[in-house]
Amino acid sequence: MKKISIAIDGPASSGKSTVAKILAEKLSYIYCDTGAMYRALTYLAITAGVDMEDGSALCRLLSQHSITFKQQSEGQLVFVDKEDVTEAIRQGDVTNTVSVVAAHGEVREKLVELQQQIGKQGGIVMDGRDIGTTVLPDAEVKIFLVASVEERAERRYKENLSKGINTDFETLKQEIERRDRIDSTREVSPLVQAEDAVRIDTTGMTILAVVEAIEAVISEKLGLD
Ligand code: DC
Repeated sequence: MKKISIAIDGPASSGKSTVAKILAEKLSYIYCDTGAMYRALTYLAITAGVDMEDGSALCRLLSQHSITFKQQSEGQLVFVDKEDVTEAIRQGDVTNTVSVVAAHGEVREKLVELQQQIGKQGGIVMDGRDIGTTVLPDAEVKIFLVASVEERAERRYKENLSKGINTDFETLKQEIERRDRIDSTREVSPLVQAEDAVRIDTTGMTILAVVEAIEAVISEKLGLD
């Protein structure tokens, strides 16, 4: 079967990464978590004490380091140079500042270039905010996942609990709303659904049901039905 490109976009905690990973594994495709790249740069900025408002300084920082992924049987690891930052980029300090870093046009230009390089061969499932609109505008399959804020906060709450982190539900909800607001209103590549994307509201759906819904879209697009 022809190796295609699958773009999965949507707001924070809409389940993109979880279903993208499962799909990539099922199809034996590459999985690219573009949010992890913005997070890795944010981590670098925090560590190096670089001002998050300074787009040029962030770009300089990016040019001095490498952000790479390593596929392991237990999941995908994220590296900044030789340092495994997989866990570090999911911590609160990164989560709460990454939207500011991702709003800089010059930063996006550099990371989009890198993402297009990773996706150029096809056979890829890429998730983010602007994949269907900007990074892979020619992707054969584009999915836009949404879910209610309550459900997304609930998912994050449970995910944190499973990692032994106890968080306040209301705070989580507010953080998600704040990130949605910044990601959707920024000037460069804001979070919007591509015209040709299929929108799936995952509120109340299981992960398996979402994966199946996307598989149905893939079959339909490829004319396999
Ligand atoms: O999906 P995530 O929560 O890991 O994304 C982290 C941040 O990066 C989020 O605030 C939006 C931003 N992002 C983006 O602007 N464009 C992408 N393609 C992916 C993520």
